[in-house]
Formats: sequence, C-alpha cells, structure tokens
Amino acid sequence: MEKVKSYANIAIIKYWGKKDKQKMIPATSSISLTLKDLYTETEIEFIDDAEIKKEVEKNGEKFSGVRDLFFLNSELQDKIHTEKISKVVDLFRTQENEKNKKVKIKTTNNMPTAAGLSSSSSGLSAIIKACNKLFKKNLSQEQLAQISKYGSGSSARSFFGPVAAWDKDSGEIYKVKTDLKLAMIVLVLSKSKKDVSSRDGMERCVKTSTYFEEWVEQSEIDFENMKKYLQDNDFEKVGKLTEENALRMHRTTETSNPPFSYFLPQTYKAMEFVKNLRDKDSEKCYFTMDAGPNVKVLCLEEDLERLAGIFSKKYEIIMSRTVEL
Ligand code: ADP
Ligand code: DP6
Repeated sequence: MEKVKSYANIAIIKYWGKKDKQKMIPATSSISLTLKDLYTETEIEFIDDAEIKKEVEKNGEKFSGVRDLFFLNSELQDKIHTEKISKVVDLFRTQENEKNKKVKIKTTNNMPTAAGLSSSSSGLSAIIKACNKLFKKNLSQEQLAQISKYGSGSSARSFFGPVAAWDKDSGEIYKVKTDLKLAMIVLVLSKSKKDVSSRDGMERCVKTSTYFEEWVEQSEIDFENMKKYLQDNDFEKVGKLTEENALRMHRTTETSNPPFSYFLPQTYKAMEFVKNLRDKDSEKCYFTMDAGPNVKVLCLEEDLERLAGIFSKKYEIIMSRTVEL
C-alpha cells in the first residue's frame, strides 16, 4: 500500500474556461498559492476482482459496474464518481500488464468537499502522486503536473509551491519566484456541496457568457502583471489584482445564459468586511472567491495570526501558510 499527502491551492489569477477540453488547454493562464493546512491524504493499493464484487454486493445497484473501489471521506463512491477516478488511474495503466490491475483508493480531505475550497485540487493531485508510487513510474513533478491537469485543471498547480503558475500558451506548469511570504484565511460561510461544479460552471460561461471574450483578454494582462508584482514583492498590487481578477471571473457567471452566481448574501458581507478592515483599520488583506460562496482572504504571513484573531470573532475560519514544493 502507498500513502501520500497533497495540498490544495487557491488561485489569485483564476483558471476559468477551457480552450481545448481534450488537450486540456485552459482559456486563461493562472497563478495560485499552495496551502499547507488544506490537504488530502490518500492511500492506494492493488486489489482483486473478488474484493470489488464483495463491496458491490454489500452496497447495492448504484455501485454495480465499478472498475475500482473509491472511498472518499470513508464513503464508497457510486459508479459515476468512481468512473471519473478510474479514468485518472487509467493514465497510469498504460502497459499491457497494467491494463487489468484494479485499485482501492481511500482518501480523506481535511476541508469540506466540493464547497469551493479546492478539494478537487488536493484530491486529484493526491491520486496522481499515489498512482506514480503504486505503478512505480518515477515521474518528475513537472510530468505529474502535466498528467494531473487531465484529472482536474487546478490540481496541476498543486505540484509546486508556495506559488505556482500554469501558462495557457506554453502549457508549462511551474513555480513562481517571489520573496513575499503569503498566507490565506478561509472564511467558511457554507459547507454545502455547490449546485454547479466548477467544470460545468466554466463550460456554461465559455459557451454563453457575453463577457467571456473580454475576461480572457483582460486575464492575459492580469497574469503578466501578477507575475511582475510577485517578482517586485509588491503585496499591495498583488492583493488589489487578486480581488479584481476574482470579481472579473464571477462576472462571467452573471453574464451567462441562464445567469448564475456562486455567491450567497454572506459572501457579499464578508467581502465588505475585508474591504472595511483595509480602508478603516489599515489592515493588509484582500479577498478572493472560487466556484463557491466561501471567501478566502489573502494576507502576509506576518499578519496571519492577528488577522485570524479578527476574522475568527465573526467567522469559522481555516488559516493556512503556504508550502514549499
Ligand atoms: P471543490 O471546490 O471542493 O474543488 P469541485 O466541485 O471543483 O469542488 O470538486 C469536487 C470534486 O472533486 C468531488 O466531487 C470529487 O469528484 C473530487 N474530489 C474531491 N476530493 C477528492 C479526493 N480526496 N480524491 C479524489 N477526488 C476528490
Ligand atoms: C474557480 O480545476 O475544478 O477554482 O479542470 O474542470 O476539473 P476542471 O476544473 P477545476 O476548476 C477550478 C476553477 C477555480 C479557479 C482556479 O482554481 O484557478
């Protein structure tokens, strides 16, 4: 049995939209922080058909036809969810003698799953790491990141940290240089599973948003500027652009047909709270949101404890430093 741990990442320049689904070419380049305290732990081992049969008989029709066993947060996943993961494992079942190998995966997230807290990035990158070990492929971080994007685009950035980038033009996934010590505080406003997954959400935006073309154009400028601000260690500019880019991403949902939003009323309140802390109390903090209602606050590591103290009076929080990978 092999055991691995992988970290979630939160984007400060968002990947939102696919230019080519098959080749996994994103519509936008992205930059993210890899977070030490948001992670997935995954175990993987080879199993035989008899063990799969036994589990299916125990659990019922919904599980019939699964090719592997996939336990997410201790719960056996049904055929649809398991098949998604089996396809990821297939990326490692490439040799003739590997084709029929079945696996059992047990994986646990330390954050709410599918609530916009990026469980897919740590979850999928963990499976890729685990398969690399189990199938003894010995691939480099760069190679694993390139495979991981087929499981979930954002997971590819989890192989690098503290800051990672994914370039839409070169296809490269790499570590970004900065001397800034960044950190994040997640304001857990809702733990519910989102209605529209990031995959479906971005697809609707690509197909129908009247703002999508503009989003892609502006995002190209944002990506270049963010790399520069990180290199210049200019936190104020990094923070401001983080907010602007996130708001632009969410504008693509509002301009889709039918329009939709990942925000809840408390999302707006939290954004305002962050802005007020900045404007009235001169705190250095900036917000970003992904495909869910929860707000993540970008700050400097030196301010993390103090800001966490302020936010925890009002919200359930998860605070995290970044991880060096
Ligand atoms: P999130 O905001 O949490 O990333 P998504 O809807 O984008 O939400 O992704 C959630 C999906 O990611 C889950 O339904 C599941 O398919 C996958 N996922 C989450 N955690 C894991 C894990 N530990 N191992 C494998 N896949 C996972
Ligand atoms: C809003 O990586 O979950 O978190 O590639 O379809 O699996 P798929 O999508 P996913 O999308 C992440 C979108 C985002 C922004 C980001 O992480 O850059």
